[in-house]
Amino acid sequence: MSTPNDFNNAQAAAQFLLAQTPLRPKIGLVLGSGLGGFADELTTATRVPYTNIPFFPRSTALGHAGQMVIGNANRIPVAAMQGRVHLYEGYSAREVAFPMRVFDCMNIRAVILTNAAGGINPEYKQGALVVLSDHINLQGHNPLTGLNEERFGPRFPDMTQAYWKPYREATLAAAKKLGKTVYQGIYVALLGPNYETPAEIRFLRTIGADLVGMSTVPEVIAARHMGIKVLAISCVTNMAAGILDQVINHEEVLETGERVKGDFTALVRAVLPEIARDVEESPAPAG
Ligand code: HPA
Repeated sequence: MSTPNDFNNAQAAAQFLLAQTPLRPKIGLVLGSGLGGFADELTTATRVPYTNIPFFPRSTALGHAGQMVIGNANRIPVAAMQGRVHLYEGYSAREVAFPMRVFDCMNIRAVILTNAAGGINPEYKQGALVVLSDHINLQGHNPLTGLNEERFGPRFPDMTQAYWKPYREATLAAAKKLGKTVYQGIYVALLGPNYETPAEIRFLRTIGADLVGMSTVPEVIAARHMGIKVLAISCVTNMAAGILDQVINHEEVLETGERVKGDFTALVRAVLPEIARDVEESPAPAG
């Protein structure tokens, strides 16, 4: 069996990125559909198109700019991905998770992953922000299959703390201070690219899912494999199929992302100092 040398490739990509900027971010962000605006506001920013980064996958989805922005958010250096790749684009789970490997090689110790999702929990409304508390992987793919790269992490990584509780609590506290309602929920990841059928949504509700989407889980699995702490926030861009008596379209997903941009950016900005403090206090990773 041959597996691509993700370790060497990720090192090469990380070195390339770090050579473009004097900043040394410890926090990585992935900005999903319609949520890329946060990276436009970074200061002293260096923007690197994915096409220039060695071995980096290129996004093809609408609403994904496809660049890494390394810059400061209120003096906190971050590396923010404007756009990601998805399994439904034909990439393998390892390719989808490769940016997390690059983050690890940049010595990034915490990630904030964001996405657009369909709301299954009837309490949610279009535009709601939801902090993920757990996930259910129904994608049928996993970035850790094949030979295990011990330099990244163990063969059988634990997933009981997939979404770091102190970060979730800090986010809910920040939301409260901002006077915004932010929920916590369980995200189920499907392969896509079609939106679900109403029968599928009824099934997903029965198994305990609050939200449904087509991303994030491969990145979370790879991040946890490497001991990177994860905060994930979904924007409910639409209620899932059959919850309301209306069809779902991608334009609506992008429009809702655009509408909550302000709330979303404020929430991320408010929680960043907490995460920055935590990563500064954490012991340096091995290797
Ligand atoms: N289903 C799956 N993925 C999504 C949805 C949805 O309803 N909305 C945004 N991403």
